[in-house]
Amino acid sequence: MKHVLSLFLFFAITFGHSQSIESPSGKIAVNFKLAGDGQPTYSVNYKSKAVVLESALGIKLKDKPALDANFEFVGSKTATFNESWKPVLGEQANIVNHYNELTVSLVQKGTHVKINIIFRAFDEGVAFRYDFPKQADLNYFIISDEVTQFNLTENNKVFWIPGDFDSNEYEYNETKLSEIDNSKINMNNGIGVKSIPGKYMVQTPLMMKSPTGLYVNIFEAAVVNYPVMHLNVDVNNYKLTAQLVPNAIGDKAYLQTPCVSPWRTIMISNDARDVVGSKMILNLNEPSKIEDTSWIKPMKYVGIWWEMHVGKSTWDYAGSQNATNFADAPKASGKHGATTENTKRYIDFAAKNGFDGVLVEGWNVGWEDWNGNWKEEVFDFTTPYPDFDIAALSAYAKSKNVKMIMHHETSGSVANYERHLDRAFENMVKYNYPAVKTGYVGKIIPRGEFHDGQTMVNHFNFVARRAADYKLMINSHESSRPTGYGRTYPNYVAAEAARGTEFNAWSIGNPPMHETILPFTRLLGGPMDYTPGIFEIKMSYYDKNKTEQVHTTLAKQLALYVTMYSPIQMAADLLENYEKYPDAFQFMKDVAVDWDESKYLQAEPGDYLTIARKAKGKESWFLGAITDENARKSEIKLDFLTKGKKYKAIIYEDAKDADWKNNPIAYKIKTMLVRSKSKINLNLAPGGGTAISFEPIN
Ligand code: NOJ
Ligand code: CA
Repeated sequence: MKHVLSLFLFFAITFGHSQSIESPSGKIAVNFKLAGDGQPTYSVNYKSKAVVLESALGIKLKDKPALDANFEFVGSKTATFNESWKPVLGEQANIVNHYNELTVSLVQKGTHVKINIIFRAFDEGVAFRYDFPKQADLNYFIISDEVTQFNLTENNKVFWIPGDFDSNEYEYNETKLSEIDNSKINMNNGIGVKSIPGKYMVQTPLMMKSPTGLYVNIFEAAVVNYPVMHLNVDVNNYKLTAQLVPNAIGDKAYLQTPCVSPWRTIMISNDARDVVGSKMILNLNEPSKIEDTSWIKPMKYVGIWWEMHVGKSTWDYAGSQNATNFADAPKASGKHGATTENTKRYIDFAAKNGFDGVLVEGWNVGWEDWNGNWKEEVFDFTTPYPDFDIAALSAYAKSKNVKMIMHHETSGSVANYERHLDRAFENMVKYNYPAVKTGYVGKIIPRGEFHDGQTMVNHFNFVARRAADYKLMINSHESSRPTGYGRTYPNYVAAEAARGTEFNAWSIGNPPMHETILPFTRLLGGPMDYTPGIFEIKMSYYDKNKTEQVHTTLAKQLALYVTMYSPIQMAADLLENYEKYPDAFQFMKDVAVDWDESKYLQAEPGDYLTIARKAKGKESWFLGAITDENARKSEIKLDFLTKGKKYKAIIYEDAKDADWKNNPIAYKIKTMLVRSKSKINLNLAPGGGTAISFEPIN
């Protein structure tokens, strides 16, 4: 580890002050400047070309003078940092964290209020944050707005979702910056909870491509005790301004010095692979606060889940959604999914096929009345339905060496969940559940709070911290999207926080390009529980009147295990569907979920993505290649394989006539002997993909 601090360079108090740092390679430079009125500003260059023009920095306070002008320069320091660290679970065994840092110290004229702005220049982008030192003149304060701007130079192509304070489960729109307009998109897409205040507001991470082929991504890192940042877009001037998510009374954040804001990040490269493979967001988070991480384990799992989404069974026991309470409707409907018998079937399947875990949703009392009722006390997270024998199942799973995954749907009633949290976690420990999938469907209780506000960000982070006390892993659904907190609390193994596979079962679904965008957006902040592996693609299989479907081929479903990184991956389809295609299912049995190395071979947001990864501690490699609605052919070199070794490659690809819409299941499997100097042709069908396993044979 190397951390070189240079001395304070200046102590002059001046206006019009300007200072720069470059990234280690010199490709990216960030410039700080105090404008004429003492307004802090910054700009960013990539290879000497302006990418972010002079843009405002600052914070507005409630009942106090704004911290966005009248500043004087007090001093600055620079530092270089270069270390590598080992994530507990990850896409690679070692992560290099190399940047140059500039800290600018400012004081506000007349008020004596001090702030620092810290800039970091990495080779794949820049980051900056506000730092509020402890001081008498700024002790407790309320942020009413953040004025941070990103003043872009061009009418970029943008992959965007609307700036909704309560949900990130949208399909992406691909338009020019100038064409962003929430009133022109289809919002009727199956999401119950929406809070979209602005026509021109979008969410971050925001992935863009300039007309000259520069990839630019705006996001944030280390959102801790602070709300999520969305962006207001000035569609005429390509200027983006931070929009912090408010709380119930319109305040943005309550802070006390000393404290810091999250990092605002701008990734830039002329190669899309640098963005999708970047570890900048993780690097900007604090190292692990958990000392003994031996209990944090990767997991492949099956579960009582998709059968509810396709309508084969129900979460509720009595089959009467909205019965006033469970006591009024105690008779089993006969369609309940989470029965002891059904759970045993999943445990047996997991044991037989080498899966680590079984998730069971709908195991606990409350589902008769869980959604849309603004009801505060729906679940207690400990009382099983009468047909779910938790003690017997826990013992049964243990005897088969299978781990149970708990489900805590809160139905947005967060106050209720926090009240029950310790008992809920004690219950998990008692019955040997190492991991929990949490859920936040519906409006938040306490009323008026948004999923993306400071209160909820604190809740999601708190649940991970408290879970660590019990040595439990968290996989949250409907949470705010992660910004790298999984580095600090590695038991926060995954989140959904974007539009997952479930939408394909009961809505217009996720278009074929969806999975080529998520790795450039949502996944930058942490793994996503996307729940791939659907083999029965068309919902008409379950009900001939249904037109919904998964918008991929079967082969692409396999490839997603490699392209959609998560250390906890579900084999989401019904067990009987896997039994019908055992040769394709073999890939899901073989594929790793924790990695030594990841190679980004081909990448273009919205179009295609090819990644090869080496399994942690093993010599085997896996490759996933996916495309959008267009068929694609390419040749890839296998030079990532170890030289001199021979590998058996099993290639799972789209059949010649495969097509996500008309012929999605058609696949073929072939086996080849390959070496590092071999090449393989990829033939991806429309909405298709290829998955390959490489096993060393000498
Ligand atoms: C939405 C989650 O994303 C899904 O996985 C879950 O089954 C339902 N909520 C019910 O909790
Ligand atoms: Ca969801």
